[in-house]
Amino acid sequence: MGRATERRMSTRKTPEELRSWRWFGRDELRSFGHRSRAKQSGLDENDYQGKPVIGIFNTWTDLNSCHMHLRLTAEAVKRGVLQAGGLPMEVPVMSAGEMYTKPTAMFHRNFLAMEVEELLRANPLDGAVLLGGCDKSTPALLMGAFSMNLPSIYMPCGPMIRGLWHGETLGSGSDVWKYWDEKRAGNLSDESWCQIEDGIARSPGHCMTMGTASTMTALAEVMGMTLPGASSIPAVDSAHSRMAAAAGRQAVENVWNDLKPRDVVTAHSFDNAIKVDMALGGSTNAIVHLVAMAGRLGFKLPLERFDELSQSTPLLANLRPSGKYLMDDFYAAGGLRALLNGMRELLHTECLTVNSRTLGENIANAENFNTDVIRTPATAIASNGGTTVLHGNLAPNGAVIKHAAVLDTALLQHTGPALVFDDYNDLKKRLDDPNLDVTKDTVLVLRSAGPVGAPGMPEWGMLPVPKKLLKLGVRDMVRVSDARMSGTSYGTCVLHVAPESAVGGPLALVKTGDSICLDLKARRIDVLVSDEELAIRRAEWKPKPTRYARGYGKLYVEHVTQANEGADFDFLQFGGDTDEPEIH
Ligand code: FES
Repeated sequence: MGRATERRMSTRKTPEELRSWRWFGRDELRSFGHRSRAKQSGLDENDYQGKPVIGIFNTWTDLNSCHMHLRLTAEAVKRGVLQAGGLPMEVPVMSAGEMYTKPTAMFHRNFLAMEVEELLRANPLDGAVLLGGCDKSTPALLMGAFSMNLPSIYMPCGPMIRGLWHGETLGSGSDVWKYWDEKRAGNLSDESWCQIEDGIARSPGHCMTMGTASTMTALAEVMGMTLPGASSIPAVDSAHSRMAAAAGRQAVENVWNDLKPRDVVTAHSFDNAIKVDMALGGSTNAIVHLVAMAGRLGFKLPLERFDELSQSTPLLANLRPSGKYLMDDFYAAGGLRALLNGMRELLHTECLTVNSRTLGENIANAENFNTDVIRTPATAIASNGGTTVLHGNLAPNGAVIKHAAVLDTALLQHTGPALVFDDYNDLKKRLDDPNLDVTKDTVLVLRSAGPVGAPGMPEWGMLPVPKKLLKLGVRDMVRVSDARMSGTSYGTCVLHVAPESAVGGPLALVKTGDSICLDLKARRIDVLVSDEELAIRRAEWKPKPTRYARGYGKLYVEHVTQANEGADFDFLQFGGDTDEPEIH
């Protein structure tokens, strides 16, 4: 008898054991109030009595174009919940949409996670289906669900279809950066630039390169939090609606079986997620998110674990920005299940998933229909993963580089003079100055871009190549910052430097002209300045005043942890289960 079957037989709930029974089932004054207000909604005991109530957490908003189809997705989930004998309740939550939010959607990841946790905690919900996909929405929804630990299933919004321009395929993000550089170099007309704007985002769905969204939805699936195959389905494919209905049905079943996130996601699930991140050439953002997600479950995930697993995991997905193809090619090639089946020897296939089957069972017999898109370990694009963790006197607590997405690999062993930008405004003001003292060997440094400094650690880490160098044909340089970068970005960018400059990390002490050495082989990033000189500079260093005197910003900067700790709030990590509300 399998572990999942054993659980099902031993823990199947009765109607009176449902969490929602405490609201609707009891014979007392408060339950009278709850039932009478359910009736105000047009419901009666046939809807709510003794039935699993499933919250459909919907990140739809006009402010997030990636999620514009999620109202329809929610209807499909409702259909599934009703088919299985549950009661669906749609719950609008903030979206953490990537494109419009300033300074960065990352600033709101923890906010959305708290919102999910609190709405789950405070309401008569037995379980949840979480609808998201645009970058930070995935970790945020899962972090909230992990903390509250009610039966939950993640339903990804799916990638958008490919971009098109003059018969050429365009990839989200990656081609924006590429053609922006060509425009700044004088190689692309305004007309062409406008045509690219028209063609690069042609449907609902998240970015269709292997950016943060594609990475995080895939990792949610690997960790067992989605139904098998859910993360690869394009947003506009009708399989998306069918998958959403299946998630609704499964959510009801999981309530009866009491299958909760902490039953599904274990330390082995995180190892699987890290390996698959490396096999996908996934976004560096996944590192910060996985550390934060692990923290919600009480696991410490040191950066060294990423480095270790990166060394032993081949790069298998030929997807932009590290490779050639886009997410709909990946789906047509068999999607994530095919990739996982091809690397199953590297995975903990015994891990449980939300359909009560193991990961191994879910990927058994998944076929690879295009071995150029999805490589096998024998035909891997690279023998190790796409990301390296660095240490050194510039990053005592770590930094990361996505070496798979570097344009000029010679820069991976490079020493050059620093050109320091004190913050993003300073960068914007000076970067394209024709008199800027910069060469292709210069190391561009950006500070005040970390969790506290920006705040929210925006995706500023792919610092633009200065215009005067673009005109000379330079397309890559060494760049160092405490920022993140978009998963769609590329180049020799050292990111997530910790501790960050705003809290006095060594990046705060670098001066223009100092030599900086990036040594990928040794996994080091150093400023070649003596300890004595750094000590003198440290004694003179003063933190900048915070720009937030009140509100969420104040809460954020006072409690956010550093990148290597997941940039979660210190008071949300490593706790036990969230308290259930008292029922009075
Ligand atoms: Fe939403 Fe890229 S902007 S996923």
